[in-house]
Amino acid sequence: MNSKYKYHLHEDGPAMAAAATTYFVETCATVLAEKDKCSVCLSGGSTPKRMFKLLASDTWKDKVDWSKLFIFWGDERSVPQDSPDSNSGEAMRLLFDQIPIPKENIFPIDGALTPMEAAKKYETALETFFGDHEPVFDLCFLGMGDDGHTASLFPYTDIIYEEEYWVKEVFVKKLDTTRISLTPEIINQAARIVFLIGGENKADVLEEVLTGDFNPEKLPSQLVIRSGAEITFFLDKGAAGNLELG
Ligand code: 6PG
Repeated sequence: MNSKYKYHLHEDGPAMAAAATTYFVETCATVLAEKDKCSVCLSGGSTPKRMFKLLASDTWKDKVDWSKLFIFWGDERSVPQDSPDSNSGEAMRLLFDQIPIPKENIFPIDGALTPMEAAKKYETALETFFGDHEPVFDLCFLGMGDDGHTASLFPYTDIIYEEEYWVKEVFVKKLDTTRISLTPEIINQAARIVFLIGGENKADVLEEVLTGDFNPEKLPSQLVIRSGAEITFFLDKGAAGNLELG
């Protein structure tokens, strides 16, 4: 296996979430020991929700200097924040409404706008926060779908080759919806890239993404995982079922 991959293998989802929570807290502390702001990009979907709940718990919520954290998302659905399908909405409800983080430190993608407007608005927010250079998140969490997508980089979509924009709307035919997503180049700029992947239904695709032919149209996660960047994986036994991790 590639030496640039760090694997954390866990019995199940709860154990994986607990380890990811420890990693979140320790990594933010490491960043804030070096500088006074830590930018964190979150993934959507169901897998990170347990981590959000843990971070909001009495055990963990006082272990992070939330006033120095700046929160972004890798992608969003075309829904308003009060929708249960909203990535930022769920993170707000499970975590950020429960802890003392300044609301101005949170940069959701506005899924209530048209996808193109939402992409533009988010790109402007990134420019305002990161200045005139490409965003470099201190910590970027990603998930993977059982079709090999990550963020909203879905198979056989145009965004796979996007190099001009930082954020793009992407029509996902099989979901018959348009998502808004960071582009591969911006994701790969992150200082630390972390995948949280759980469930047996992801075992085959994870194996193929890691060891199969390079085919980013079919497996867009490879655009990140095969980019040469250091990648940290938090996996449960189900997702890692086909891997020999020694
Ligand atoms: C989204 C995500 C997406 C997600 C994967 C895995 O908006 O859905 O950002 O990329 O990480 O689809 O989703 P699960 O964690 O629900 O399996």
